[in-house]
Amino acid sequence: MCFTSREPKIGFADLEADGSAIEHVPVLANTLAEQINLLPDGVMVDATIGHGGHSFLFGEKLGPEGVIVGLDVDENSIRRAQLKLKDLACKVILLNSNFSCISEQVHKQGIEKVDFILADLGLCSGQLADSQRGLSFLVDMPLDMRIDKRLKRTAADIINETDEKTLADLIYRFGEDRASRRIARFIVEHRRRQRIITTGQLAAIVCRALGRSGRKSRIHPATRTFQALRIAVNNELENLEKLLASAPDLLNKNGYIAVISYHSLEDRLVKLNFKENQRQNTYNIITKRPLVPSREEIAANRRARSAKLRIAQRY
Ligand SMILES: C[S@@+](CC[C@H](N)C(=O)[O-])C[C@H]1O[C@@H](n2cnc3c(N)ncnc32)[C@H](O)[C@@H]1O
Repeated sequence: MCFTSREPKIGFADLEADGSAIEHVPVLANTLAEQINLLPDGVMVDATIGHGGHSFLFGEKLGPEGVIVGLDVDENSIRRAQLKLKDLACKVILLNSNFSCISEQVHKQGIEKVDFILADLGLCSGQLADSQRGLSFLVDMPLDMRIDKRLKRTAADIINETDEKTLADLIYRFGEDRASRRIARFIVEHRRRQRIITTGQLAAIVCRALGRSGRKSRIHPATRTFQALRIAVNNELENLEKLLASAPDLLNKNGYIAVISYHSLEDRLVKLNFKENQRQNTYNIITKRPLVPSREEIAANRRARSAKLRIAQRY
């Protein structure tokens, strides 16, 4: 389903309550800028515009003939990007849309091909802090997890309505948690007594299920279960596959695609897609190995720690 809407008009005051006023620092921005050569009349699609940090860097290189098409499923991100990009010389088109529909959205703007597609996957800093979004296990919030509020199914719906085996498979497949069966059993036992409606409840159940082994781990015991649910609620891998499949036809000759991913499931999809396109003589892979942030960048921005950047160029 491809929903779209044009950017809403707002001011900064509207951004305060929902976490989107929190500054998002673009990851691997300098590395990306060094690798991508965009001419002043270039056309770029920022498939995950977020707060517009990456687009701003490229936008500064574009002249009045240049175009940025920015997509985001989160209306708050679109609003934030609108403020960030408002003084650029180039044309900026912001669309509240899923990148799974990238070609359709770009073509609707009368643009046939583009010079650069960027996808910086995952979340903006403010989205994790948003008390209504239910993405954090560190603060008790409604168990929602929809980045796009137009989606129907929340994480609470999945947790309370999915049978035990399917739930275990989901936690294993999208969270890569080897204790998925035990976690699913604890969830199902709990929901027989009481519906699970907050992130705090779910985090506590996962911690109980993992007991001691969870406490020894470097990451919070609920990290993988939360990742799995977020991926399922937002169809993240399916959307990424659609974006990757659309890219070759949308790119001009010598155009670039760059993807920054934050977990191995996403990175694997990107790597395999680029390799397959290279095999078919569609792409030249620029990054033989993924580019990762320096120690300094990670020290300054913890969100960057798991980032991997892969770039390919259209033949
Ligand atoms: C990491 S942030 C991007 C930050 C941006 N590069 C910047 O510099 O400000 C990721 C953004 O992608 C959006 N997003 C996630 N999945 C999406 C999808 N399938 N289609 C469009 N936007 C998506 C999120 O709402 C979020 O705003």
